[in-house]
Amino acid sequence: MTYKVGILGLGTVGTGVAKILQDPIGRHPLLPEIKIARVGVRSLNKQRDVAIAPDLITDNLESIVNDPAIDIVVELIGGIEPAKSLILKAIANGKHIVTANKAVIARHGSEIFTAAKQKGIYVMLEAAACGGIPVIQALKQSLGGNRISELTGIVNGTTNYILSRMYFEGADFAATLAEAQQLGYAEADPTADVDGFDAADKMAILASLAFGDRVKVEDIYREGIRSITSADIGYAKELGFTIKLLGIAKRPKTDGDSNLEIRVHPTLVPIQHPLANINGVTNAIRIEGDPIGEVVFSGPGAGSGATASAVVADIINVAAALKSMPNQINSLMGCSHEHYAKVAPIANTVAQFYVRLLTHDKAGVIGDLGTAFGKHSVSLNAILQKTTVHDGLAEIVVVTQKVSEFNLQAAIAAIHDLPTMHSIPTILRVL
Ligand code: HSE
Repeated sequence: MTYKVGILGLGTVGTGVAKILQDPIGRHPLLPEIKIARVGVRSLNKQRDVAIAPDLITDNLESIVNDPAIDIVVELIGGIEPAKSLILKAIANGKHIVTANKAVIARHGSEIFTAAKQKGIYVMLEAAACGGIPVIQALKQSLGGNRISELTGIVNGTTNYILSRMYFEGADFAATLAEAQQLGYAEADPTADVDGFDAADKMAILASLAFGDRVKVEDIYREGIRSITSADIGYAKELGFTIKLLGIAKRPKTDGDSNLEIRVHPTLVPIQHPLANINGVTNAIRIEGDPIGEVVFSGPGAGSGATASAVVADIINVAAALKSMPNQINSLMGCSHEHYAKVAPIANTVAQFYVRLLTHDKAGVIGDLGTAFGKHSVSLNAILQKTTVHDGLAEIVVVTQKVSEFNLQAAIAAIHDLPTMHSIPTILRVL
């Protein structure tokens, strides 16, 4: 039996996939039965890092999703269009889908999975969140016996690279981003990564698998890392923390509260936490479930080989399912979600906070601050005051106890109005 694959896109990941499929020895025994039938590219004349017979390559992507000989369409072009239309057309034509496209799944998953369900089609997405880390299959299958209560992750390699360098070298955000761009770790337009959009897409996918309901990416509270300064990293260190861009998803603690908590923001992580020492471009996901307790996955979240590893695993899974049950869908591999999760507004969440304030260096400042926090039921866990930093201003850092976001923001509004206050450059949540 052979399974014919049409690959859309021969960039970094497509090249990695083609290389694995062309070199099956020592890998899964089904691989020799999987053949590259067609490859769709944007430009036919580009120099390639993998040898594909020229007659298999086309710049007519539609011809691949319409080709009756193809069983599995592997979508590796990324972005929303034309990826979404090609996926939907391939599904309509009865082809199974393997995709690494988190944006299209996070934002249009509902339409894609509904179409796939109607046609009895697999849509596989291991590579769409955290590249080479096998977390999607773990959530769909290996952890199926658990009631998952929390999923916390470093799901974006670019921001983890930037924050790690800031932590170890004391460098500023702008300089570190510029260097990351020069080295190819950050895109020329870094918005998707540094403003948390990429992480939010991945969290929508991971949370929906962890908690069993579809998640709208626009319901996820999102903050990026542009406001983090070397001063914040320095204070965090002094207090026993590092700073990471985390995706945090939690099931409500009580039966009465049906809202999930899902957010993406820079977070102070205690240095002894398993995610604190995940550095560079590495991703990691910590899952807490009953009865397993804690499980942590870490590894490469991007890159040619790592992402191709996940894509090929999906291709093998589809081929194996087609081989053993050609006329049925394996329910462990399909999407079983139909409803949307209710996501709690950020104001309802509870966290510890780190607040860095610049105040006029006058008597009574700390008293004013304590009173304002106290009035809004925000009690403090730690306070650091530095001597005058510049222009007659003093820098004060406080870490609160666990408080509701609503109370914290009310206290901050009151503190802004204090005559002794100059500005509040940073407010961060603590894990
Ligand atoms: N831009 C992503 C990251 C890699 O930095 O993690 C692809 O998901």
